[in-house]
Amino acid sequence: MTTHKIALIPGDGIGVDVTDAAIEIATAAARRFGFTLATETFPWSCDHYLATGRMMPEDGIETLRGFDAIYLGAVGWPATVPDSVSLHGLLLPIRKAFAQYANIRPHRLLKGVEGPLRSDGFDILCIRENTEGEYSGAGGRVHQGTPGEVAIQTSVFTRMGVERILRFGFEQARARRGHLTSVTKSNAQQYSMVFWDEVTREVAADYPDVSVEPMHIDAMAARMVMAPESLDVIVASNLFGDILTDLGAAIQGGLGFAASANINPDRSAPSMFEPVHGSAPDIAGKDIANPIAAIWSAAMMLDHLGEAEAAAAILAAIEAATAQGIGTRPGSHSTSAITQAVKAALEA
Ligand code: IPM
Ligand code: MN
Repeated sequence: MTTHKIALIPGDGIGVDVTDAAIEIATAAARRFGFTLATETFPWSCDHYLATGRMMPEDGIETLRGFDAIYLGAVGWPATVPDSVSLHGLLLPIRKAFAQYANIRPHRLLKGVEGPLRSDGFDILCIRENTEGEYSGAGGRVHQGTPGEVAIQTSVFTRMGVERILRFGFEQARARRGHLTSVTKSNAQQYSMVFWDEVTREVAADYPDVSVEPMHIDAMAARMVMAPESLDVIVASNLFGDILTDLGAAIQGGLGFAASANINPDRSAPSMFEPVHGSAPDIAGKDIANPIAAIWSAAMMLDHLGEAEAAAAILAAIEAATAQGIGTRPGSHSTSAITQAVKAALEA
């Protein structure tokens, strides 16, 4: 029997609630499809920071390297640890250290879920660059606290980084409806985004079967609201992709439905799976967080691990529940009620 070694980092707030739900469902799927998940839980979180002075131990990355995948709930508890500290101590270094350069986020309406738009026939796959760009961490501050204070945060776009994310996007588009929209802002950002457009054209030459269009980020935001059904695969830089995927979450009914996978495509290191939503301190521990985004992210993890049938069964079980209205509206059902409905559908 195949065993997949999974590192669990529930993290903070509702990250803990939804990780429990997601792993309960993933484990039920493993039982049904004849494989095993060997999980090990790491308490790395803001509480861990308060107790130890670090979000994860110094050898945290080396510890994670030995796993087949990482499942993360959410990170952040700004009342005690600034987000700039907690995220740079855990989530962001993992994405970079393991070259999880493709952040994949599907945006479509699950059965029974009503989005805020009239349009309901969209199916968008957002591919967000996940290791460089606006998140490179290049910059600094000088003359702090004086009127002459300066803060610089520089975007870094490398040929390797831009080319590989575009190539990944083209591959996804080829396997779907054959259309790729490359998100850019080359009218204003004359270095980085003109470069991005050039690389898009170069890579496009290898994919004559995929139709490609560049689109400015501002127009793209409007299009996702006005005509989301006209989109297939979107490729965007780190920050552009971050912003567009919250918009994507909104049009699919909310952050409770937005799943994500941080993928290392060459499999030289583990990939990481997490819902798009954050730790939501105001509803933490109350059994009211929607676990669907987290469960869907667990399905993406199983798919990545080669358990495509189990992944598809989880998605079908989620939709069997939502089609009956379970978990489709904020507050309609508890975290555990939604989880049990998905589990029942999975085991039926
Ligand atoms: C996300 C989140 C993170 C990001 C934050 C928490 C640093 O918003 O995964 O979308 O910006 O990448
Ligand atoms: Mn985000």
